[in-house]
Amino acid sequence: MISHSKPTISQKEINAVSAVLKSGLLAQGRLVTRFEQDLRKFIKTSFAVATNSGSSALHLALLGLKIRPQDEVIIPSYVCAGVLNAVNYVCAKARLVDINPDDFNISADSVRKNISLKTKAIIVPHMFGLAADLDGLKKFKIPLIEDCALSIGATYKGRQVGSFGDAAVFSFYATKMLTTAEGGGLATNRSDIYSFARDKRDYDNKDSYQLRFNYKMNEIQAAMGIEQLKRINQFISHRQKIASMYNNSLSGLGIGLPEAPAHRVHVYFRYCIKSKNCAESIIKKLRGLGIEAKRPVFKPLHNYLGLSNKDYPVTTQVYKSVVSLPIYPQLKEEQVRFVIDKVRRILK
Ligand SMILES: Cc1ncc(COP(=O)(O)O)c(C=O)c1O
Repeated sequence: MISHSKPTISQKEINAVSAVLKSGLLAQGRLVTRFEQDLRKFIKTSFAVATNSGSSALHLALLGLKIRPQDEVIIPSYVCAGVLNAVNYVCAKARLVDINPDDFNISADSVRKNISLKTKAIIVPHMFGLAADLDGLKKFKIPLIEDCALSIGATYKGRQVGSFGDAAVFSFYATKMLTTAEGGGLATNRSDIYSFARDKRDYDNKDSYQLRFNYKMNEIQAAMGIEQLKRINQFISHRQKIASMYNNSLSGLGIGLPEAPAHRVHVYFRYCIKSKNCAESIIKKLRGLGIEAKRPVFKPLHNYLGLSNKDYPVTTQVYKSVVSLPIYPQLKEEQVRFVIDKVRRILK
């Protein structure tokens, strides 16, 4: 079976992790600080805070923006439930909006229609490796949290995603662009959000009591993250090569292929094809042929909340028709050719 996704772990990560284990210094320390510096330099923000997941980074970002229970936060329906959870952690109201049919990112037009006096933040996930319409979204002058869980390394007008919003969050879960097994991070140019997030991620050794969390990354994770981040550009160019093989061989089949506007560099966290309403049957057929393909979002959030498909027409259509094919640096050329051959056979 060709897996849908796989981490890229080399001897370097193994050596780095075993050095930590031998050192006996396992909890947040020197390596976490180093990883934060590396992340901040890569994204080109003033500050970065490492966390134990993308979800905890999102929670800290919302708290850092002082989102309160009566506030509304705009999020797309077509994203994982972790984003909705974070809004619920701060007891705010999540206002779900629709996406664009071409890049699957949050629709600036749909955001505009849903802004009210209560809107205090917009969470902008850059879906599947391609930046959202940052210029269009910044025009609303509402604080933006960029969610780069699926897109570290992608650029918009030559700048890294994660450097545009009030804060940006990252996930380093096992299958992400780079991994620390589980893990996350927050990057920001705002010193208030930085100090707040640093304080809140650790509850111990504080002079005064406040509600705080245990959201710390550990040294084992940071050791992996440092090694992975060194090779992120290699990971990206490998993914881009595979994507271009798919692009060249899957055109002319009457399916939609990923397209990146000239000012946005796609890092292909996912390679998504858009068929005609039959994602499920394509996934089943590919599985029968030894290929693990998936829906790139398990279920739209409006379906979890029992909201009508009529209010989310693009999300509904995309959910029905989009299939994510295997793509990761370790995928071999012959495996890519095998996938291409089987997809062509199914769709012809
Ligand atoms: C867009 C997005 N944001 C946030 C998260 C949450 O990240 P984590 O699983 O590290 O908590 C995910 C998880 O995949 C995600 O896809």
